[in-house]
Amino acid sequence: MDTSGNLTGTTFVEQAIYHEWLNSDFNTETFPTTGEDCQTCHMPRINDNVVIANRPPWLSARSPFGLHYLVGGNAFMLNILKDNNSLLGLSATQTQFDTVINRTVKQLQQQTLNLSLFDNGRQNDTAYFDLYLENLTGHKFPAGYPSRRAYIEFLVTDVNNDTLFYSGRHNSIYRLLDEDAAYELHYDVITNDNQVQIYEMVMGDINGNVTTVLERAYQHLKDNRIPPKGFSTQHNAYDTVKIVGNALADSDFNYINGVEGSGGDSVSYHIPLNGYAGQLNVSATVYYQPVPPRYLDDMFQYSSQEIDLFKNLYQGADHIPVIVAQQNLTVYPVGISAKNTNSKINVYPTITSDFIYVHNENDFSLDVDIYDLKGKLCASNKVGAKSKNKLNLSHFSKGVYLIKSKVEGNAFVKRIVVQ
Ligand code: HEC
Repeated sequence: MDTSGNLTGTTFVEQAIYHEWLNSDFNTETFPTTGEDCQTCHMPRINDNVVIANRPPWLSARSPFGLHYLVGGNAFMLNILKDNNSLLGLSATQTQFDTVINRTVKQLQQQTLNLSLFDNGRQNDTAYFDLYLENLTGHKFPAGYPSRRAYIEFLVTDVNNDTLFYSGRHNSIYRLLDEDAAYELHYDVITNDNQVQIYEMVMGDINGNVTTVLERAYQHLKDNRIPPKGFSTQHNAYDTVKIVGNALADSDFNYINGVEGSGGDSVSYHIPLNGYAGQLNVSATVYYQPVPPRYLDDMFQYSSQEIDLFKNLYQGADHIPVIVAQQNLTVYPVGISAKNTNSKINVYPTITSDFIYVHNENDFSLDVDIYDLKGKLCASNKVGAKSKNKLNLSHFSKGVYLIKSKVEGNAFVKRIVVQ
């Protein structure tokens, strides 16, 4: 309908999970041996003999049997139902709710998404990281109703745990603070922490304004939900499940090395360091938010018995979204990767209060530098070929240090503790 409630005569596809699945490697018609149907994931099979009904009385047992779990991702509403079951007159017990909530959270955390975080070094006062998200489900992630979304929180702190970069900030009810007024665009590269990656479908009305009212939905303004593995823009079931917006121009959205159908997305983070050269603590978290506060703003402007009831339940709920995946990384200063690549260098003891030995068994000499975790050079030494130096550290203040050398183009790094 248009904004006055007149039929537009057009159609809008609100959910097409089955088409997403058809357009994937999970499709069991196209891939009978490797595909997986809906039941494989949503109705886990057991090999027990189960009689599925007591009528007719001669019914024989069935094996394997598909458990009717049918869980999705919406632990949030299940919690609201559980906490208000007498108010809402529900018959399920607290234990029954807990069981389903646990299954839902477990499925979100173990079968939904793989997350990898890569350190791409530093250059020109900028630190580079890549985050790769791989959808494990048999359809787009997040699936289903248009309010569903997932967002990335990307936090970088310095050696004192002070914040250097924070994309995906939220308030106490998990409203994202840096989301643009209409909606946030899809990003391939994030360079500023007022940008946040949100995987979602956004509906627009006939005038191109964002709407959350299903009857007003006329066009898709954004759909960067991560496609399932094998998804293709050439498939005959693409017209109902299109990618919309910047994700279409993102060369690694559902693509790997130029090949379509990866079922993943890579997001690059470029972190301005403003002169800081020390240790970086990086944390990337993907949250699943089935009913975000912003989605309800439209509806909560109106009042009716049902809306007021729901508003009350919503406001009383615990808004913390489920963490679907998380990766952390500690990056040591100035181009040091924490790898020990040369077995012919020995540093000992690694915990000391006065001195350490650096033993170089290579037949060439080495420059050995000691840094603190802020990246400050504290000492430099030359250790001759096939020789052993005793370095005095008694004047060092207590803390962790990094012994660094360069051997045949590779970094040698060892951590030591001065106590
Ligand atoms: C490879 C496993 C897998 C297959 C195959 C699969 N799903 Fe899912 N499905 C999941 C996971 C994991 C989730 C939870 C993450 C999410 O909601 O996106 C989910 C979520 C859902 C949801 C919940 C959406 C919501 O709003 O909470 C629905 C509905 C759904 N799937 C339907 C289907 C249908 C229909 C099919 C077959 C056409 C199917 N699934 C095939 C794994 C699968």
